[in-house]
Amino acid sequence: MVDKVKNSFRKIYENEAVIVVKSPGRINLIGEHTDYNGGLVLPAAIDKCMYFALAENDLNLGRIYAMDLDEKSIVYFDQLEKTETIWLNYIIGMLLEFKNLNFALKGFDCVFSSEIPIGAGMSSSAALECGFAVGMDAIIGSNLKKWQIIDMSHHSNHSFMNIYGGILDQFSLLFGQVGKCMLMNCKDRSFDFYNIDLLDYQVVLINTNVKHEHTLSGYNDRAEECKSILSKVSKKYKEIECISDVMIDNIDDITEGLEMTLKRRVKFIVEENNRVLQFINAMERNDIIKLGDLLYQSHNGLQYLYEVSCPELDTLVDITRDINGVIGSRMMGGGFGGCTINLIKSEIVESTVNYILYEYQLRTGIKAESFFVNISDGVEVIEL
Ligand code: GLA
Repeated sequence: MVDKVKNSFRKIYENEAVIVVKSPGRINLIGEHTDYNGGLVLPAAIDKCMYFALAENDLNLGRIYAMDLDEKSIVYFDQLEKTETIWLNYIIGMLLEFKNLNFALKGFDCVFSSEIPIGAGMSSSAALECGFAVGMDAIIGSNLKKWQIIDMSHHSNHSFMNIYGGILDQFSLLFGQVGKCMLMNCKDRSFDFYNIDLLDYQVVLINTNVKHEHTLSGYNDRAEECKSILSKVSKKYKEIECISDVMIDNIDDITEGLEMTLKRRVKFIVEENNRVLQFINAMERNDIIKLGDLLYQSHNGLQYLYEVSCPELDTLVDITRDINGVIGSRMMGGGFGGCTINLIKSEIVESTVNYILYEYQLRTGIKAESFFVNISDGVEVIEL
């Protein structure tokens, strides 16, 4: 991939790239939709990555080539506005962040290409934003810290892209370490690394290959609901600063008077945070059955309480319930499409996955796709 983007850079701009950035996708073992509620997450960076080749130019503008789409664009620094091209908007949003932080932009050429499927819940958009920002950081010499890049991407998503997400994705791909997952408390941003030890099981992602139209609006609706829950609850309970501050034993008291739907949302978030802690505990005890059970519980919560799943994701998870080699499965990421994360027995992983893909196509008419992922390091700059 490094050679691929370098060669393309040479061909397009008749010049040599100066740096290459590798920006990974992520998995999240458990702790879904908790990040923007001040809760717990357990992600890791993976070896499916996006690669950027960059160099400074003296044109005072940005030239970008999205290799996989064969699309070229030019960005003028005095016209950083939304365009019709979504991938370009992510880049423009990050350039605006540099500008807002008073960094002088420098002309640049960039080529990027990705192994991370778009819309699969593996965080291709954060890989694009953060990978690009790391490249620009090197060109401008802004010396940004990891948390600054996380905040820039988070802020751009809210103010420019109108996606009201949390910091799970950006955090995972900036701090990721090979073989480790990270338990982060999204309220105070403290985190710890844990070895991922799944005994004779391995992580397999299976992409439903559907992306429903309401994916974005559905996600934003949940974020909006959670805001309204918090504003209601915190009027009465001053100590509740985010939904994750609600304790499992107090859910009924604290949510009294809320509509049923909103009560369900709170119940999910509080239980999901709890499952993250149980997951760590089960991993330390090598209790693989418990790990699998927690994944299924998480999916049930996402399906029935938080309502961010979709029939195709439910079908994929349901298929695995009857298969011995699968110990657990759940939807991963924002939901309404994208992929499931599965723990599958290593020695029969291929036949098991083939069966799931076959059965999914039989039931839905859609071809799913599997990804065997390894837990890898976070964003890396490869100086040339
Ligand atoms: C998307 C968002 C994240 C997080 C997950 C759900 O990936 O970008 O911030 O909310 O969904 O856990």
